Amino acid sequence: MNSLRPIGIIGTGKYVPERILTNSDLEQMVETNDEWIVSRTGIRERHIAAEHEATSDLAYEAALKALASAGMKAEDLELIIVATITPDTAFPSTACILQDKLGAKGAAAFDLSAACSGFVYSLATATSFLQTGMYNNALIIGADTLSRITDYTDRNTCVLFGDGAGAVVLGEVPQGRGFKSFDLGAEGAGGSLLKLEAGGSRLPASPQTLEDKKHFIYMNGREVFKFAVRVMGTATERVLEKAGLDKTDIDLFVPHQANIRIIQSAMQRLELSEEKCVINVDRYANTSAASIPLALVEAAEEGRMKEGDTVLMVGFGGGLTWGASVLVW
Ligand code: UT7
Repeated sequence: MNSLRPIGIIGTGKYVPERILTNSDLEQMVETNDEWIVSRTGIRERHIAAEHEATSDLAYEAALKALASAGMKAEDLELIIVATITPDTAFPSTACILQDKLGAKGAAAFDLSAACSGFVYSLATATSFLQTGMYNNALIIGADTLSRITDYTDRNTCVLFGDGAGAVVLGEVPQGRGFKSFDLGAEGAGGSLLKLEAGGSRLPASPQTLEDKKHFIYMNGREVFKFAVRVMGTATERVLEKAGLDKTDIDLFVPHQANIRIIQSAMQRLELSEEKCVINVDRYANTSAASIPLALVEAAEEGRMKEGDTVLMVGFGGGLTWGASVLVW
């Protein structure tokens, strides 16, 4: 990977919808309480898309900011990847809808479905295209509107999710900087632990699928928790090894924001202090593909990375999937 031209992040942007749903709001909707939600997940509030907002609208707002921060015009974009499991429509892809909204006429555009690992999967995909010279720049967005597929009568899941989008522009960076390694993986055998069953070719939408609530997220939380703790550790170790680095080399750890307990277990394994870890699950909850970019972009906006810092991103999610990357900022 190091003999190819160095590719890194040259622009960042994020967007969350205005409306905030707090734990006390949820107390009015299902049998739950703030104490349970905070102690089991670390979540205090989440942002929820307005009725008129779909995933491409969240992605658009984040994209505009990322382009501005890169000092780039949309018409100069060569590739757009939107990581999402809540596309505006089954097709056209959200990336194509976004390409039109942005006026990025010359860009190839497609969606990537890897749930909460989707952003890291997309970074790896685009970096490969750019390193080989197939494209010179790319807009990568993690965007999800999980509120549209959440059952707000199911306390097991409805307290966990929020909406948002995070975007980065990738391009060539000076030698020594940029992405150093990726570790992507999947365990398809665990797919039924976290799924949305209906609306595809296996189980098309019907009055029965509606009645059975099969258009909402189903999750076996305990099993996904175990998977998450395991792969956060193994993927992190592998991606560090591929980059020829050690856990002591990490300057900033940017994990998927699903549950504070999962993040803490990874921090313990990596022997990382709080100031080296980005945590915003308390304010945004689990935003799926948007989770890692929201954390990364927020950290960048707060000035938490300086040139040359080693940033480790790692996520896991439906599929089941995982993705990790080492980036020199
Ligand atoms: O992005 C990737 C996807 N997802 C994840 O990363 C999620 C991974 N899993 C988790 O984060 C955790 O498993 C949860 C937060 C989902 C659940 O926490 P837990 O500590 O594993 O709780 P549990 O499922 O073992 O449930 C404990 C109890 C149950 O009651 P009983 O059966 O012990 O009487 C639940 O019914 O807590 C109950 N419970 C709730 N109580 C109040 C479940 N949800 C709620 C709730 N409020 N919202």
